[in-house]
Amino acid sequence: MPLPKAELHLHIEGTLEPELAFELAERNGVKLPYADTDELREAYRFEGLQSFLNLYYELMAVLRTERDFEDLANAYLARAAAQGVRHAEIFFDPQAHTSRGVGMDTVVEGLWRALGSSEDNHGVSTQLILCFLRDESAELALETLESARPYLDRIVGVGLDSAEVGHPPVKFREVYEAAAALGLRRVAHAGEEGPPEYITQALDVLGVKRVDHGLRCMEDPALVERLVRDRIPLTVCPLSNVRLRAVDTLADHPLPAMLDAGLLCTVNSDDPAYFGGYAGDNFHAVRDALGLSKDRLRALARNSFVASFLEHDEERRQRYLAEVEAYAFP
Ligand code: HPA
Ligand code: ZN
Repeated sequence: MPLPKAELHLHIEGTLEPELAFELAERNGVKLPYADTDELREAYRFEGLQSFLNLYYELMAVLRTERDFEDLANAYLARAAAQGVRHAEIFFDPQAHTSRGVGMDTVVEGLWRALGSSEDNHGVSTQLILCFLRDESAELALETLESARPYLDRIVGVGLDSAEVGHPPVKFREVYEAAAALGLRRVAHAGEEGPPEYITQALDVLGVKRVDHGLRCMEDPALVERLVRDRIPLTVCPLSNVRLRAVDTLADHPLPAMLDAGLLCTVNSDDPAYFGGYAGDNFHAVRDALGLSKDRLRALARNSFVASFLEHDEERRQRYLAEVEAYAFP
């Protein structure tokens, strides 16, 4: 039995495995510029965030109908459940679909067909986080939030993703204020490729209470001190960091130093179909490459539930935390 954990940094579009991409391409009459899954996998060598994003957006062309989004989410939930994920807070990128003529309704209704029954079908509780594309305009982000209004009962919060450098959090002040007024929780990718100041801005300007990646905080001791003091969780994605060259190798990953500093880190998969593994795979990878003890692994699992947006259901959070404490490592 795998260690129980919550997944807090997971882009549903990043769970599109090559096999499913080809199946959906066939179903929807979409021609992919790759002969087969082997040739597609050859393209999974990334120089950095942008080279990954190019492929990530290209493959989304196969996602067209509610059923496609349902199948995508069900495939993820089955894999996540098998790796001990008990609760998943799932990002989606509506602008990457609406810009192709696929409506917000198709995306949310389709995802919900899987998420709405996920506890019964997969034993995984779920929440949805709507992400704005930071390399698109602030106006488009506002329009996106507006078009999500009919679905806000299914969306727990907003996030900020896509190409980070040159698109600082401050660009999205207004839409985050609007999201806060709607009672949405706020997170943002910051300090993946962008500088530590982007993390500070996400906290000060966007009011986020959880930071996605946040790796580069380690360059700024005063910022680390603040993140520790304010118990701001960081959703770290080790395999992603290697594949997108934020770190040279897993053995060089700052996760142990971050934990030593007292940061509330969690371990997540980001875009598992592209980066070589799901949540459990990331736990195993850091255990093996960094020699993390069972106590540290248990602390990471505990952190994942502490950092999750379960304020409306504290009883559930406590139940999950009890599962972590009771877990017997093999
Ligand atoms: N960073 C930024 N944007 C993204 C990512 C990421 O790791 N994955 C999907 N969109
Ligand atoms: Zn991400």
